[in-house]
Amino acid sequence: MLKAEHLHFGGDYNPEQWPKEVWKEDIWLMQKAGVNLVSLGIFSWANIEREEGKYDFSWLDEIMGMLHEGGISVDMATATASPPAWLTHKYPEVLPVNFDGVTLVHGGRQAYSASSEVYRKKAAALVEKLAERYANHPAVVMWHVNNEYGCHAPYDYSEQSRKKFIEWLKAHYSSIEELNASWGTDFWSQRYYDWNEIPVPKRTPDGTHPNPGQQIDFKRFSSDVTLELFKMERDIIRKYDKVHPITTNFMSMKFTYAMDYFAWAKEVDFVSTDHYLAQHDVLNHIDLAQQADLTRGFAKGKQWLLMEHSSSAVNWQPRNYAKTPGQELRNSMSFVARGSQGSMYFQWRQGQAGSERFHSALVPHAGEDTRVFREVSELGALLKSHPEIAKYPTDQAKIAMVYDYEQFWALMQANMPTEDLSYSETVATWYRALWELGLRVDFVHPDATAAELGEYELVLMPMVHMLSEAQEAQFTSYAQNGGNLVVGYFSNIADRTLRVKLGGYGGKLVKDVIGVYVEEFYPLRPEQEVKLSNGYTTKLWSELARLNGAELVASYRNCDVDGSVAIAKRKIGSATSWYQGTELTLDSQKKFFAEIAKSLGIKSEGGDHTEVIHRGPYRFEIDHQKNKVSITK
Ligand code: GLA
Ligand code: GLA
Repeated sequence: MLKAEHLHFGGDYNPEQWPKEVWKEDIWLMQKAGVNLVSLGIFSWANIEREEGKYDFSWLDEIMGMLHEGGISVDMATATASPPAWLTHKYPEVLPVNFDGVTLVHGGRQAYSASSEVYRKKAAALVEKLAERYANHPAVVMWHVNNEYGCHAPYDYSEQSRKKFIEWLKAHYSSIEELNASWGTDFWSQRYYDWNEIPVPKRTPDGTHPNPGQQIDFKRFSSDVTLELFKMERDIIRKYDKVHPITTNFMSMKFTYAMDYFAWAKEVDFVSTDHYLAQHDVLNHIDLAQQADLTRGFAKGKQWLLMEHSSSAVNWQPRNYAKTPGQELRNSMSFVARGSQGSMYFQWRQGQAGSERFHSALVPHAGEDTRVFREVSELGALLKSHPEIAKYPTDQAKIAMVYDYEQFWALMQANMPTEDLSYSETVATWYRALWELGLRVDFVHPDATAAELGEYELVLMPMVHMLSEAQEAQFTSYAQNGGNLVVGYFSNIADRTLRVKLGGYGGKLVKDVIGVYVEEFYPLRPEQEVKLSNGYTTKLWSELARLNGAELVASYRNCDVDGSVAIAKRKIGSATSWYQGTELTLDSQKKFFAEIAKSLGIKSEGGDHTEVIHRGPYRFEIDHQKNKVSITK
C-alpha cells in the first residue's frame, strides 16, 4: 500500500544525463514546483554496471542523498529496462527475434527476450545489488520494477522463446492430444505428435496465417513469460525491503494490448500506469477518461497511480501537438478524480540529447520562465493543498463495461468476416457515448461473478467475442436474476480456444436467454450506412437474424438483410436484456444508451463536454470546453 498522506507529484528523473552542476538546480526547481516524488534510475543499467559484475553506485548515492535532504522521495527503479551494450555484445542470445526472424539489436531500448536465461540472471544480479543497497535508504518510498514491460518487443520468436512456449503449453494442456483438440489441428495437416514439433507462430507461407488457437496461446504465453520477469525482481526486492510497495508501470492506452493487465494487477502492491494522449484526437480527454477508468478496473479496489503522462507534446507520434493552456490541469485532475494517487510525468527535465529530446518535460529546454513550468507548478500547489483526497477511492459507477485483453488478441487475428472490426474502436464508441451522456462507467473482466456483476444496475458487453462456458453461465445467471444486460454483436461467438459455438451465433446467451437467432453475418461495405426501422444509423456490420423469444426494437431497412433483427430486447423477471446486433454510429449509440438509462432510472451528471466525478466527499467538475476545473467538498 502507498501511504495515503498526500498526492504524489513529480516524474522520471535522469540525473545521469546531466552534469552535477545541474543537479543542485534540479532539487531547487523541484521544491519550487512542489515535486515530492521522482522515479530514479529507470534506464541507468549502463551507468551502474559499467562492466560485467563491476558496479558503481557512487553517483546514485550522491543524488539520493541530495533528494532526501531536499525533501523529495524516491520511486526506486531497478534499472533493468534497457540492457547495456556490453551485455548484448557479449551474450547476443539475449536479443529478441521478430515475426520475420530478424534479430533486433542494441541501440534503442528493451532489447532483450523475456525468455532469455542470461538476461534473467544478469537482471537478477543487478536488482540484488540495488535492493540490498537502497532497501533502507530514507528517500525510498516505493519500488519501480523495470519499465513498461512488453512495450517494444512483447513477442519473441527465437528458439529460446519456442522452448519456453512449449513448457507453457505443457503446463496448460494435460496431453498433446488435448492441445490438438483445442487448436483443431486436424485442419490443414497441423497435427502434432510430439511437443517438440510445435513452432512459435512466425510468418507462414503467403496468404496463410498460423493456427488461431496457437496464435492466442502464444499471446497468453508472452504476457505470462514477461510477468515472470516482474515476479522475479519483485521477490528479490522483498527479501531486502518488507515495507515499501512494489509496482511496475503499465500502459493504459487505446491500442496497447500485449500484456494482460488484469492478470498483472494481481501481482503488484499497487497499480501504476502511463497514459499519453492520441494527439490528433481533439476529444482525447474522453480517451483519457476511459483509460483512467480502465486502470481503476485492473486495480479492482487496490490503489493506483498515474506514473507517467506528458506536460505537453510527446515525440513519438507522427505529429506532436503541444498542450494548450489549461489542458494539462484538466488532464491531471481527470486522472486524480478517477482515483489516481497523484500525477506523475515523463519526465523531469527535457533531454538535450537522445531520441526523446523533443518530448516535453516539467522543465523545458527554455527553462523555468515558461508556460509549462508555471502551469505544472500551479498543479503542484493545487495537489499539495488537497492531501486528503488520497484517502478516498473514487465512487463506484452504476454501469459496468466488460473489458478483456484476450478479446483484443482474438479479434486482431486475420481471416475474420471483415477486417473493419476493431475491438478498441467499438469499446471507445460505447464509452464515449456514455461519457457524453454524463454516465460513468467501471470496467470489469469477464471472469466477474454474477454477484459482482449484480453490484451494477447495467452491464455492457461490447464485442466480447470469447466466453468460456463458465463465464457465459455467470452472465446468464446475472441476466436471469434481476441484472440488466446489453450484449453487443460478435459476442460469445467462440469459447476460449476460439472454437465457434454452434447452433446460432452468440450461443445460448443470445439465442435462448435474450432470444435472438443469428444465422449469418453480413458485414457492410466501408462508408455504407444503413438506417434502421427506429431511425438509428448503423455501419460495418449487419446480420441475418430473427426473433426467438425477444421483442423487436429495430430492424434493418434497405440493405441485404432487409427486415432482419438489428436490436431486440427481452424482459426477464424484473430486468431487461438487450441484443445490439450491429455497430451503431456514435449519435445512435448515444440515443440507445440514453433510452436504456432512462428506462432503468440511471441518473446522469455532467455530459456534453463536462465530466463530474465523485471521490469520497470530493466533487470534481471538469469542463473541457470552458477549460475549467473545480474541486468542491
Ligand atoms: C482454396 C483452397 C481451399 C480453401 C479455399 C477457401 O480454394 O484450395 O482449401 O482454402 O481456398 O476459399
Ligand atoms: C514511455 C516510457 C518513457 C518515455 C515515454 C515517452 O511512457 O516509459 O520512458 O519513453 O514513454 O512518452
